[in-house]
Amino acid sequence: MSTITGSNADRSTVLITGGSKGIGLELAKQFAMRGCNLVLAARSETDLEHAAKQLESENGCRVSICPLDLTADGGVNELYRQVGEMGIQVDILVNNAGAGDVGPFAESDLNRQLAMLQLNIVVLTALTRLFLPGMIERGNGRILNVASLAAYFSGGANWASYVASKHYVLAFTRGLASELSGTGVRITALCPGPTATGFVGEAGAGDMPIYRWMPKLSPSKVAEAGYRAAMAGRTTATPGLLNKLFAFLGELPPRTVAQSVFGFLSRNPSPGSTGSRRVS
Ligand SMILES: NC(=O)c1ccc[n+]([C@@H]2O[C@H](COP(=O)([O-])OP(=O)(O)OC[C@H]3O[C@@H](n4cnc5c(N)ncnc54)[C@H](OP(=O)(O)O)[C@@H]3O)[C@@H](O)[C@H]2O)c1
Repeated sequence: MSTITGSNADRSTVLITGGSKGIGLELAKQFAMRGCNLVLAARSETDLEHAAKQLESENGCRVSICPLDLTADGGVNELYRQVGEMGIQVDILVNNAGAGDVGPFAESDLNRQLAMLQLNIVVLTALTRLFLPGMIERGNGRILNVASLAAYFSGGANWASYVASKHYVLAFTRGLASELSGTGVRITALCPGPTATGFVGEAGAGDMPIYRWMPKLSPSKVAEAGYRAAMAGRTTATPGLLNKLFAFLGELPPRTVAQSVFGFLSRNPSPGSTGSRRVS
């Protein structure tokens, strides 16, 4: 039996993709400290086991792990099957796992680009489609989609497909939020700005102006804002004052003004670079 009312997620079970590191792990802590049980999915079994041990010992909750690559053929169905086989009802779905691919698009690795779009868009959409009907049937549930501050901008040079993928996450979330009105299920897009996780270094995004000049929030601050927004049933959450300002700017007409500012922040950090790098 689970209850999701107001800011109370007690006794609910939360499925978090990418729950082994970074923002996903901090979101896991937010839910665990309020008495939730967890299912964490990511590729590295070692990282998942480490996270599960820590969460269980600090919070006394039950943590199940699903080590798998969500972008692999049948990855999403395999996760759905494993959760069903464990007899777990997912009350809250957190679509957090995401990848970035920074660099000039024409020089990018096509397979990396496609895997990123698969994870950021297709996996998130498929998991939502699989777990949403049960929530609607129970008249109770939460979905938290991790988008990005970049989602507020309709395009960004040097990470054009990443920005577009996060734009999708925000638009998808807003559309579903209207559709779900009155069902008891709420959906939220968390839109973090630069955040201090492995994402930044691995992407080679550290040299981009947006990561050099804008303050990086801690993943715990970002996660707390995401948790609170999801439990309050808010459609969007953008942690940090400066990020809120940029999000506001991104929504203002004329779009070209916001686009120019974002274009400046997305300048190519290394114009001579020969390829892009993927983070996950
Ligand atoms: N950090 C930022 O500045 C920032 C800003 C805005 C938005 N975001 C978004 O925040 C989300 C979390 O990012 P983060 O910064 O916390 O990154 P992170 O520290 O690199 O964590 C990514 C998580 O996703 C998992 N993952 C990656 N690829 C996967 C795959 N194919 N299948 C299953 N799991 C996979 C990773 O575990 P394994 O590697 O073991 O699979 C890890 O648990 C992403 O959606 C990202 O786009 C981040």
